[in-house]
Amino acid sequence: LGTPRVYKFFQRIITEVITYREKNNVSRADYLQHLINLKKKGSIDADKDISNGHEHREFDSEQNRFTDVDIYAQASTFFADGYETSSGAMAFGLYCLAVNPDVQAKVRDEVDSVLKKHDGQLTFDAIQEMTYLDMALSEALRMYPPAMAMIKLCTKPFKLPTPSGGTYEVEVGTPVVLPLYAIHCDPQHFPDPKRYDPERFSEGNKQSRHRYSYLPFGEGPRMCLGFRFALMQVKAGIATVINRFRLLPNKRTPVPVKPDPNYFMFAAKGGLWLDFEKRTDK
Ligand code: HEM
Repeated sequence: LGTPRVYKFFQRIITEVITYREKNNVSRADYLQHLINLKKKGSIDADKDISNGHEHREFDSEQNRFTDVDIYAQASTFFADGYETSSGAMAFGLYCLAVNPDVQAKVRDEVDSVLKKHDGQLTFDAIQEMTYLDMALSEALRMYPPAMAMIKLCTKPFKLPTPSGGTYEVEVGTPVVLPLYAIHCDPQHFPDPKRYDPERFSEGNKQSRHRYSYLPFGEGPRMCLGFRFALMQVKAGIATVINRFRLLPNKRTPVPVKPDPNYFMFAAKGGLWLDFEKRTDK
């Protein structure tokens, strides 16, 4: 996303859409329109932040004005938030099925039977009925959460409970890293954490865990904006593939996966290689 070519791409498409909307007097109820309105207003002023009642920083100097560059930046971040994460989720979801053939067979049976009931149409309702697929993907997102960690900035003094029963005073302005990958691998919440087991996400098992022990999309007011959409599109992708292909590991498939230390998100070092074998039984 940081290369000039990518920047130019976003610059071009955003400029085209803004020009089109202005020329044709089009206003849409979407994210881009919010950004355009903000640019027209010129700055983010000292409005109260409705989400948490905190005062916004005042953006009054020329360099803090909201410009086209901010629109490109917001749009490209939104793109990254939605794309890299979902493609990672889909890749790891398929990987888990390839290296766990029993789970793969069960997911395929479910996809086949639900699709049959829905005349072969992969609709929203059909995907909602694929509950075992949901469990299999949830477990993949536990072991390989695309976001890995969340970074926050402390805005209110806070006494953090420590494992020894004391408290640690977090001061305003302290950066805080929430290590969601580490939390997902904690045997206290997920016994034998390196084992892939979709049953961890049966209704009963989900209820018995701490609410914040599973955070692939974050939590609270800044949790992932697109999580329902993301789950839907990733499940649609996996269901489509699994309905047509058998997935098999090959010589290049990493077992176990080693995270790539040079990538800002969870990615497998050397890539996730799988064989796709066309199904002959349907
Ligand atoms: C499987 C796919 C995805 C995963 C694992 C994921 C995960 C996350 C996580 C962990 C956060 C950070 C929460 C925080 O820092 O507290 C986040 C934020 C965000 N995500 Fe996603 N995401 C996914 C897909 C998407 C999609 C498809 C979209 C857009 C359509 C999207 C849009 C966003 C946005 C805009 C934010 C920032 C929200 C805010 O700061 O208020 N994400 N996501």
